[in-house]
Amino acid sequence: MTAQGALGARLEERLLRRTATVGVVGLGYVGLPLAVAFARAGFPVIGVDSDPSRATLLARGTSPVEDVPTATLRPLVEEGRLRVRSSADALSEADAIVICVPTPLGKSKEPDISFIVAAADGVSRVLGAGRLVVLESTTYPGTTEEVLLPRLSRDGMRVGEEFFLAFSPERIDPGNRTWELARIPKVVGGITPACRHLASLLYGQIIERVIPVSSPQVAEMVKLFENTFRSVNIALVNELAIMCRRLGMSVWEVIGAAASKPFGFMPFSPGPGIGGHCLPSDPHYLSWRTRLAGYEARFIAFADEINGGMPEYVVRLVVDALNEQTRAVKGSRILALGVAYKAGVGDTRDSPALAIIESLQARGALVDYVDPRVPQIPVAGHLLKSAAWEQVDLAAYDLVLLLTAHAEFDPQRLVREARLVVDTRNATGAVGEFRHVIRI
Ligand SMILES: NC(=O)c1ccc[n+]([C@@H]2O[C@H](COP(=O)([O-])OP(=O)(O)OC[C@H]3O[C@@H](n4cnc5c(N)ncnc54)[C@H](O)[C@@H]3O)[C@@H](O)[C@H]2O)c1
Repeated sequence: MTAQGALGARLEERLLRRTATVGVVGLGYVGLPLAVAFARAGFPVIGVDSDPSRATLLARGTSPVEDVPTATLRPLVEEGRLRVRSSADALSEADAIVICVPTPLGKSKEPDISFIVAAADGVSRVLGAGRLVVLESTTYPGTTEEVLLPRLSRDGMRVGEEFFLAFSPERIDPGNRTWELARIPKVVGGITPACRHLASLLYGQIIERVIPVSSPQVAEMVKLFENTFRSVNIALVNELAIMCRRLGMSVWEVIGAAASKPFGFMPFSPGPGIGGHCLPSDPHYLSWRTRLAGYEARFIAFADEINGGMPEYVVRLVVDALNEQTRAVKGSRILALGVAYKAGVGDTRDSPALAIIESLQARGALVDYVDPRVPQIPVAGHLLKSAAWEQVDLAAYDLVLLLTAHAEFDPQRLVREARLVVDTRNATGAVGEFRHVIRI
């Protein structure tokens, strides 16, 4: 018998044979691709999403997530290999349960782990002996042990013997075709060595490389460090952009040349601000937790200040560009290109584009937008609808503001047809230098 006892040995066998039923709680950007990956690997999968309309959509085989084409999802659903439900009660037959629910911030930027708590309570109601639970949601170090463990051991079940618990951060990059789920190494920390072993075995079935670490806390910290690293470096390069403008040079030229250094340098790009579910929120999970331990994280606060100031910096670039043409913002027609927080996705959560459009509207600008992946967006209580890129008359606008470098936006056409351009992503960089094109 192996170190995890009879129950663990039974689960191990079922994982290796891929007969174990895998439950996924939360079928969003993270949970849906994961559920599909397990189903495609041959596991019977039960996916649970508490949003009934989302569950109904998925149960029909329609995917709302770009990285999971409906053509991939539908056969799995139709063949019953991926069953979608709206209640965690459906997980009573699941051998391994992975929790992928949101972890937003509260009003004063404190962690809101209410979704994790609700998911854990739902799982604890159905958790039987010999089961494995893994949390994937990004969260502060200690969540798995302090929040999940007491809830799941309620009935006196012993962790590491009668049930197994681990944390493994999701590291996917939506829209990234090079680094897909299976190719991104998976960090796994278990409450006990048996928990780590079984969780590693689970992911080993669908992911090329598993990196075991000594505890769930370390795995939780790894994810927060990765995203803090990005946030801080983006803030640094955003500040470099501000400094380069003051000193009259192109930040893009500076970064391009610096990136020729073959060691000790990694290029990051400036932009209109950070967005999405992760970067604006995750570092605050870390600073909140360390504040409780009596330490004030300074880099995180500073990066937040600089990145958070970028939307207004872009608005200022627009105001100055119009001013140069003796135009006021008030009454100007402005076309925003892209409202998603990054290229290739339709996700507008915390997108800086929304704050920029709202700010321009507040100054009296008449703003339209084009985003092939976002048909409509609410801005300041009103619903804006996307124009079609192929049909929109760029010359009809006083200024075209590129906020998201979607591949659809042909930079040649933009430079040729628009009267005045503010390009926050250097999408037009390869086309050349033009008096009517201003880059961040
Ligand atoms: N989006 C990303 O690129 C990304 C990357 C890595 C990690 N993460 C992390 O993964 C987690 C999930 O993020 P996401 O982008 O997939 O979120 P999401 O909002 O796209 O999806 C979460 C889903 O969970 C559902 N849900 C909420 N509470 C539930 C419950 N109690 N039971 C069942 N379903 C429930 C919601 O209805 C939603 O459909 C977050 O912690 C996030 O920080 C996200």
